[in-house]
Amino acid sequence: MSENTPVLEIKDLSVAYQTPTGSVEAVRGVNLTLYPEEIIGLVGESGSGKSTMAFAVMRLLKGEAMVTGGSIKVLGKDVYSLNKKELRQFRWDQMAMVFQSAMSALNPVMTVEKQIFDTILSHRPQMSRQEVRTRAEELMDMVRIDRKHLKSYPHELSGGMRQRIVIAIAIALHPKMVIMDEPTTALDVVVQRSILDQIKDIQKTEKFSILFISHDFSLVAEMASRVAIMYAGRIVEMTDSHTLKLGEKHHPYTDGLLRAIPQLTSEDVVIEGIAGNPPDLRSLPSGCAFHPRCAVAMDRCKSEVPIPHPQSIGYIECHLYSEEGSHV
Ligand SMILES: Nc1ncnc2c1ncn2[C@@H]1O[C@H](COP(=O)(O)OP(=O)(O)OP(=O)(O)O)[C@@H](O)[C@H]1O
Ligand SMILES: [Mg+2]
Repeated sequence: MSENTPVLEIKDLSVAYQTPTGSVEAVRGVNLTLYPEEIIGLVGESGSGKSTMAFAVMRLLKGEAMVTGGSIKVLGKDVYSLNKKELRQFRWDQMAMVFQSAMSALNPVMTVEKQIFDTILSHRPQMSRQEVRTRAEELMDMVRIDRKHLKSYPHELSGGMRQRIVIAIAIALHPKMVIMDEPTTALDVVVQRSILDQIKDIQKTEKFSILFISHDFSLVAEMASRVAIMYAGRIVEMTDSHTLKLGEKHHPYTDGLLRAIPQLTSEDVVIEGIAGNPPDLRSLPSGCAFHPRCAVAMDRCKSEVPIPHPQSIGYIECHLYSEEGSHV
C-alpha cells in the first residue's frame, strides 16, 4: 500500500432498505475518495442518506438494509470481501465510527476505564494491563478530561465529556479512518466548538482521516478541506470548503442550503429555507431528483438525469453546468 492509497474509496455505491411498501433507495451510485489525513465533510438535509452511507462503509447495515451495488475499499481492502474474523479485526482497528447520538452508546453500568479497556483488549489481547492503562490515560489527556474520570460512570459526566469519551474510544486503537456522524449535534455551541477544536488537534497528532457528517455548513467548512453535498441518496456536488459560500459556483441545492444558514446582513438576520421537502425515496422524481424544488430548473431537468460536471475541484451534478448550460 503506497502512502497515497486512499483510506476510503467508495465506487458507485447503492444501498436500499427493503420495506413492505417498496425499496427505499437511500444511497444511489455514490463515489467518494478520502485520502490519508484528509477531512471530508458530508452534508445534506435529514434523510439524504448520510448515515446509511456511513453504516455501509462500516459494514454495519442492519436487517432490511442492503448494499445493492458498487464497492467500498478501506485502506485498499474491499470491506465486503473480508470474512467475519477479518472484519472483526479491521473494524475499530483500521476504521472507526462515532455514531449519531453516540453519548447514549456508552454502557451506563460500566466505568469509563472498563469501557476503554474492553475496547482495547478485545483487539489487542496480548497488551499488558499497564500498557492499556497508559493508552487509556493518554486518550483522556487527548480529549482533555481529568484522568480521575476513568473511574467515573457515564451518568457522572456532562454530555460534552461523554461525547469526548466516545471519541476517545473510537480512536483508542489508532484507526486510519474515523467516520464522525454528527459528533456534536446534541451539545451547546460552546461545548461543540471546544470538542471540534480537540478533534482537529487529535487528528493532527494521531494522523487519521475523517469523514465528518453534519447538517451544519459552518462547522463543516471549518473542519473539512473538501465537502460532499448529498441529496436524495446522491452526492450532487463535491467542492472545496473554501468556496462554500454564496456567490461561488454551486449546485442549486448547495446554494439553497447556504441560504438556509442565518445570514448576518447589515441590520437583519435573514434565513431562507429550501422550498418543499426531500422526495420519497420509493418513487423519485424523474430527471434530476432536485428539480421539483429547484428555482432554476429547466425543461430537461424533468426528464434527463444530470451527470457530474467536473469543476476545478470536484464536480457539480446539474444541467446548469453542462456545456449547453454555459450561461452560468
Ligand atoms: N430502517 C429503515 N427502513 C426504511 N427506510 C429507512 C430506514 N432507515 C432509514 N431509512 C430511510 O433512508 C433514508 C436515509 O436515511 P439516513 O438515516 O441515512 O439519512 P441521514 O442523511 O443520516 O439523515 P439525518 O440527517 O436525519 O441523520 C431516509 O429517507 C430514511 O427514511
Ligand atoms: Mg444520520
